[in-house]
Amino acid sequence: MSADDVIQAWDQADPTSIHPLRQVSEEAYWDSGRAQADMLATVIPDGAKVLDFGCGDGRVAIPLAALGYEVTAVDASQRMLDRLADRAPDLSTLHATADGVLNHLGRRKMDAIVSLAVLIHHDYKDSRYTISRLRAATKLGGILVLDWPVSDQPTEADSWIGVTTWSRQQQADACAEIGLEPVDSGLPWGVYRAVKAGS
Ligand SMILES: C[S@@+](CC[C@H](N)C(=O)[O-])C[C@H]1O[C@@H](n2cnc3c(N)ncnc32)[C@H](O)[C@@H]1O
Repeated sequence: MSADDVIQAWDQADPTSIHPLRQVSEEAYWDSGRAQADMLATVIPDGAKVLDFGCGDGRVAIPLAALGYEVTAVDASQRMLDRLADRAPDLSTLHATADGVLNHLGRRKMDAIVSLAVLIHHDYKDSRYTISRLRAATKLGGILVLDWPVSDQPTEADSWIGVTTWSRQQQADACAEIGLEPVDSGLPWGVYRAVKAGS
């Protein structure tokens, strides 16, 4: 599936399909976002300018803003952003893909970028391209938290809700080429520092 197909599927998705906890309860869904924002705060410096890429309806972006971060919530689905705005009308949003983020920022860079449950649904080519754009939008020395899983049996997602997994070597090669240094964090996602490509 192309990135456009994945984005279109999310745009049309029933809100209950967005996250498994939604089928448990709304409270559990929003609690999970607050808990994940607290986890992200262990690796993102206080007061940082944070971009939540593929923010959905703000499950994590809204509690991150409540923790004092300067959050920009980005999604390619206007429907998702409208739901976010219903709940948090003052949160800064951007309707864009990763290329749109770079156009929007121009020479400005973010202190940190978070992207949870987004890249997992893209194929290798599109995930790698998107990660390279997100790296380009991050300050040197900044932090990226990417839901970018490795597996001993890597596979590419074959539907919008499927999950792409990478081999350790594939991921290490991509990090070196893109300019990402893994950070040992104990978090359930990949945490990386933005470094010069090839270093
Ligand atoms: C599973 S939801 C995750 C939402 C949120 N990150 C969370 O953890 O609750 C995936 C979101 O990523 C967005 N998305 C997927 N691919 C994207 C892309 N290439 N550019 C921008 N948004 C994207 C979808 O529109 C959808 O809102």
